[in-house]
Amino acid sequence: MRSFRRRVLEWGRDNRRDLPWRRTRDPWRILVSEVMLQQTQVERVVPHYVRFSAAFPNPSACADAGSAEVVRLWAGLGYNRRALNLHRAASAVVHRHHGEIPSDDVSLRALPGVGAYTSRAVRSFAFGADVAAVDTNAVRVLARCVSAAPLSVGQAMALGDRLVPRGGSWEFNQTMFDLGATVCTAEPKCGRCPLRRQCAWYGAGGGEPDPWRRGSTATKQARFAGSDRQGRGRLLDALRHGTVTSAALAAACGWPDDSARAERIAGSLVCEGFAKWSGSAPPVLELC
Ligand code: ADE
Repeated sequence: MRSFRRRVLEWGRDNRRDLPWRRTRDPWRILVSEVMLQQTQVERVVPHYVRFSAAFPNPSACADAGSAEVVRLWAGLGYNRRALNLHRAASAVVHRHHGEIPSDDVSLRALPGVGAYTSRAVRSFAFGADVAAVDTNAVRVLARCVSAAPLSVGQAMALGDRLVPRGGSWEFNQTMFDLGATVCTAEPKCGRCPLRRQCAWYGAGGGEPDPWRRGSTATKQARFAGSDRQGRGRLLDALRHGTVTSAALAAACGWPDDSARAERIAGSLVCEGFAKWSGSAPPVLELC
């Protein structure tokens, strides 16, 4: 356990990626980065993170902006509900916590869009708490190297908590992300892995079954082309540029012959708080 920890930290010193959210300990910026990273690759997040944190440098700037502006700035990142939740979280932080991101798990998880993982990430990266923040890449490292058996995310977090060095959770967690993203990948590069000598799976020959694949709970993504998600994304993009009339809904979704489906999608955007109908002759759909 001790040599695993030491090797991780040593490798991290020379190999950890220089990413913009790693240059700050500001809790708001860390929350923004972690929400963006929830379902999106690092390379794609970088320019969005830079733009977003310049536009909304603190929770009150984001809360004051209004959700339409936040959703507009989210364009290109996908999973737009994250933008709405981040805006709601910013408002809650202003109202409940005087504009300061809280540092305790209960208050963090009461914020919209913040679950167990994001709470851990904020506590470790902004407040230095000795907790593991384990993403899917880090689960793979732990499953192969330490447990040699399938791990759920919850089990990986508990195992990670035992490995995190006191006072060194930032370095440890960030390095585990990078080991999983660049070395202990789906097709692992064991030849250049700093944990080869500690790795239970490698020690057992590195053959099948791969503990990570066996344990993988990843579900296959549903097809995007032709999906409701695609139409919804198209409609939100149209709304980012202006209003959409009822007659133009189907075309905006990319389904010119299916206005019933387009109206259902518009209805879901209204229910979720993204958009509202306004005006009367004829009414138009617009971002809230
Ligand atoms: N995935 C989740 N959080 C991350 C971070 N801080 N750096 C790189 N990848 C991540």
